[in-house]
Amino acid sequence: MVETVWKATSKPSPLCTFLLLIILCILGFYSLHYPHSTVINPNAQNALRFRHIFLSSASNYTIASYLRILTLHPHLAGTAPSLAIVNYVVAQFKSLHLQTHTTQYKTLLSYPTHSSLSAHFTNGTVHDLSLSDSSDDVAVVRPYHAYSPSGTAFAKAVFVNYGRDVDFQAIKELNVSVKGCIVIARRGDLPRGIVVQKAEENGAVAVLIYTEGEEVKGFERGTVMSGVGDPLSPGWAAVDDGESLELEDARVLKRFPKIPSMPLSVRAAQLILNSLGGAPPPEKWRVDLRGVGPGPTILNFTYQGEKKVGTIHNVFAIIRGSEEPDRYVLLGNHRDAWTYGAVDPNSGTAALLDIARRYALMMRLGWQPRRTIILCSWDAEEFGMIGSTEWVEQNLVNLGSKAVAYLNVDCAVQGPGFFVGATPQLDSLLLEVTKKVKDPDSEGSTVYEKWAATNAGTNIQRLSGVDSDFAPFVQHAGVPSIDIYYGRDFPVYHTAFDSYEWMTNNGDPLFHRHVAVAGIWGLVALHLADDSILPFNYLSYAEQLQRYKVFLSNLLGEDKAKVSLHPLTTSIQELVSAAKEAEDEAKSRY
Ligand SMILES: *[C@@H]1O[C@H](CO)[C@@H](O)[C@H](O)[C@H]1NC(C)=O
Ligand SMILES: *[C@@H]1O[C@H](CO)[C@@H](O)[C@H](O)[C@H]1NC(C)=O
Ligand SMILES: *[C@@H]1O[C@H](CO)[C@@H](O)[C@H](O)[C@H]1NC(C)=O
Ligand SMILES: *[C@@H]1O[C@H](CO)[C@@H](O)[C@H](O)[C@H]1NC(C)=O
Repeated sequence: MVETVWKATSKPSPLCTFLLLIILCILGFYSLHYPHSTVINPNAQNALRFRHIFLSSASNYTIASYLRILTLHPHLAGTAPSLAIVNYVVAQFKSLHLQTHTTQYKTLLSYPTHSSLSAHFTNGTVHDLSLSDSSDDVAVVRPYHAYSPSGTAFAKAVFVNYGRDVDFQAIKELNVSVKGCIVIARRGDLPRGIVVQKAEENGAVAVLIYTEGEEVKGFERGTVMSGVGDPLSPGWAAVDDGESLELEDARVLKRFPKIPSMPLSVRAAQLILNSLGGAPPPEKWRVDLRGVGPGPTILNFTYQGEKKVGTIHNVFAIIRGSEEPDRYVLLGNHRDAWTYGAVDPNSGTAALLDIARRYALMMRLGWQPRRTIILCSWDAEEFGMIGSTEWVEQNLVNLGSKAVAYLNVDCAVQGPGFFVGATPQLDSLLLEVTKKVKDPDSEGSTVYEKWAATNAGTNIQRLSGVDSDFAPFVQHAGVPSIDIYYGRDFPVYHTAFDSYEWMTNNGDPLFHRHVAVAGIWGLVALHLADDSILPFNYLSYAEQLQRYKVFLSNLLGEDKAKVSLHPLTTSIQELVSAAKEAEDEAKSRY
């Protein structure tokens, strides 16, 4: 555009010079706000124009209508209603004329067949602690822990706080043994499977886990399998005719706990815990209980479940890149839910579908990304990131060399407040993009401004957890990744109350937070797909490594003399020089 102006005015008049100055000022303004775009490159101007179209074509109405349809029925992975949602997502992508692709895997899943729980109190009464969130909702799977072994137990109840090592140690110091007992634990930071494993190591015969919180009601379902992916095909994809381990194989069995467990409602937990005798709880547990047990209350526990091979479906929409088609920018969200899944995960699915709609609109207006964009809709995440892990295993070599980044959104909207995790080379891009997106909860502010004003500031978490589909990408394929969400710790997590009604009454009544997540998610992807030089910042990565090195050094304490951190120091220095060199070269190309 600028070149055309020069050609048209061989002898620039004062007016033209003035106009040109104004144009340059405007372009300079944009380039300040988009440090990765270039003023003289017409492609960059085009990309900028399409980013504006992307943001201005947001619609809270379409997101709400996607979510309404996605959450009409519960859609647990491997069940018939989940197939209807697969078909819905495929139909949406196809109706937008996006190239659509589905992959299927046969993987080991787990469902309950029967369960019961009752408490026998010392006054002679027996309470049936009926295991259902609400008696009239038969469409929702009964509360269970996927991959728990079947089993019965008739034994004294004992409370173990969060079930951590320190908690079992504290119990021992009270001279209380959990041997032969049914352990009750409240949900903390430990994965469910680890709590069950620790209870088993201490001799317990069964485990009940409940979730605390003023607004919490119902039962928190969840998996107790350790590790990620299909247990019958560890490390390789569960494709048709592929190798599959036997269920009795030690490599399979080690992924599951050996004692049975179930979720407990907070109300049932209170009833049991208030009836316990024995030693009073350690002060640091901060619980108002007479005793931790064991007993005198006795629990009658039965869980029957089946593990069976089922078919799961990943759905993809592909937008081929014009200049670097072999480089992929991946946006992923899982589709399967324990119940209705309005928050977990379909707030993310609704956002993904709205991004698809807007990208399709941009394509009709002439946009094609420089690099290939792939929208991914995963299955069976709730069982242990199975859909995404199988796909990563199947495409490991390709992803290692061709994936630019993986951008995950699971529970897009859980309430107010912006949260994000990322591998550090994406920090700067994230900060820039949040400056372009309107804050959903305060008129006239950007997401960045509200985020920076929080106590933690613009804190970007690291993706060290194994709790969503970014895990196989980061930890197995080594792909730079991001995980975005609004709000956290929502009270209906994995319960039958995670419904569209909860979303419209509590999570996001006007669907503006959904719009913000979709905006940030889609805009980060557009930069990664369209910027001529990838917007990675490895200085930020080196800084993070440096901080971890200091942390490690402090952890070593007195052992510092025995371990040399010198190799770490030199590699971090090498990374800093390489990052600076890359940055200087990138700047010289603008
Ligand atoms: C636990 O038992 C030991 C040994 O019998 C005793 O010394 C200690 O005081 C007991 N601790 C508590 C908290 O009762
Ligand atoms: C028996 O004990 C339980 C638990 O403390 C209590 O909920 C129940 O009301 C008691 N029943 C009677 C008849 O006292
Ligand atoms: C425990 O519960 C099961 C299943 O509801 C029942 O069949 C059994 O009789 C109960 N056991 C006792 C000792 O009450
Ligand atoms: C979308 O946002 C507008 C403006 O705040 C609001 O009036 C409308 O109710 C919202 N639509 C939905 C479906 O929430």
